[in-house]
Amino acid sequence: MAEIREIKKAETSGKASIHSHITGLGIDESGKAKFKADGLVGQVEAREAAWVVVELIRQGKMAGKGILLVGPPGTGKTALAVGIAKELGEDTPFNMLNASEIYSVELKKTEVLTQAIRKSIGVRVRQKRLVYEGVVKELKVKVARSRLNPYVQVPREVEIKLATKDEERTLTAGDTIAEQIARMGIRKGDVIWIDAETGNVVKVGKAKGLEGAKSYDIESGRAVDIPSGPVKKEKELTNTFTLYDLDMSLAAQSISLTAIFSLWSEREISQDVRKQVDSYVKEMMNKGMAELIPGVLFIDDAHMLDIETFSFLTKALEAELAPILVLATNRGTTKIRGTDVEAPHGMPLDLLDRLLIITTRPYSEDEAKEIISIRAEELDIELEPQALEELKRLASENSLRYSIQLLEPSAVIARRSGRNVVKVDDVKEASRLFSDVKRSVKYVKEYETLFLK
Ligand SMILES: Nc1ncnc2c1ncn2[C@@H]1O[C@H](COP(=O)(O)OP(=O)(O)OP(=O)(O)O)[C@@H](O)[C@H]1O
Ligand SMILES: [Mg+2]
Repeated sequence: MAEIREIKKAETSGKASIHSHITGLGIDESGKAKFKADGLVGQVEAREAAWVVVELIRQGKMAGKGILLVGPPGTGKTALAVGIAKELGEDTPFNMLNASEIYSVELKKTEVLTQAIRKSIGVRVRQKRLVYEGVVKELKVKVARSRLNPYVQVPREVEIKLATKDEERTLTAGDTIAEQIARMGIRKGDVIWIDAETGNVVKVGKAKGLEGAKSYDIESGRAVDIPSGPVKKEKELTNTFTLYDLDMSLAAQSISLTAIFSLWSEREISQDVRKQVDSYVKEMMNKGMAELIPGVLFIDDAHMLDIETFSFLTKALEAELAPILVLATNRGTTKIRGTDVEAPHGMPLDLLDRLLIITTRPYSEDEAKEIISIRAEELDIELEPQALEELKRLASENSLRYSIQLLEPSAVIARRSGRNVVKVDDVKEASRLFSDVKRSVKYVKEYETLFLK
């Protein structure tokens, strides 16, 4: 029997990213942006435009189209893209790429881009599986000595009585299922299902309204209804993969053992594999077993892309399987990389022509103040009101980013004096130690003769 394991995502604290405070676009039912919601402040028009984009994506009307976010540095372009990703949810692929990432030494530019595009297209696969489903009425796990280590007892067999509202069945199963049941701590009163083919066990939750069951359950949390109908039945399961996931799993099946030990992730995927995956997906779509979900390919700092890349992207937008392209830039008129031609945002006009443009504008002092205080809260940094005022002043004098970056150093300085609350002096000290750009430029001018040329 095949064993199926779940791959756990690596846990990170999540606060490290400078956009971790953003949980959505903060839009109300009528499509209007609230001044402050979901971690976003102000920038109302851009957020409302982004919301329209989210709605279009959800309705499947955006595939092969593009958006360009334009605005000065630190005005929330990347923040908006994060907001869009959060609104779309886990099921719609959202792939973020910095333009500089295409200049990899290991991979060709077109390979990086093709992989990025395929990471941005999802396939929702519906599968009908034969399962045993019901609430656990009785459970007997037989243990035996491990074959590998006689001092260890391992589950060897399980006898389990599953019941629905209409039927009861007793099943016996071997060690793969017994082991899962023991590991997952499944007990009487749990609603579970077992895949008849793979033997994969899934715990749905605690059965509602069972005798002796408490109204709350600390461990399993969720209370669910007891299923009705037969115990053995066909169940429809849906899973979303990206085309890239499918490419990788197909490619992995055909690589040799030696290739596994080389750095697999940096390898090219052959066009052959991609063709096979495409035709497989199309076949499943024709059978009504799969549907395509165009996701988002977000390329930050898009002015860093070069002329070949732009033409590749323009063409990719017109392909049969195309994602939604979202680009962001803080450049005005500049040279298109790889040419001597000046163009708006450093992009060729034929691409610009295909994009809807959303602009972000600089923040007012009060908006900046709100953003700084949201960031401080996110980092668990307590600010005295004057300290916040000082950061607001620094934001308008220098930049919002500069102020946000001073938060953590200020907190370290405060802690050094045995305080948990950041005072205005801590902020001033941090700003004395860490120069902003204007001061740094002045410094360079002052000592110009001493610098290497
Ligand atoms: N409207 C907003 N509400 C809350 N936080 C914001 C908002 N706008 C920006 N921020 C935060 O301010 C910081 C700078 O914004 P961001 O990185 O999005 O700017 P940007 O426009 O992408 O700049 P650049 O052109 O330099 O890439 C980030 O920490 C971001 O999360
Ligand atoms: Mg940015």
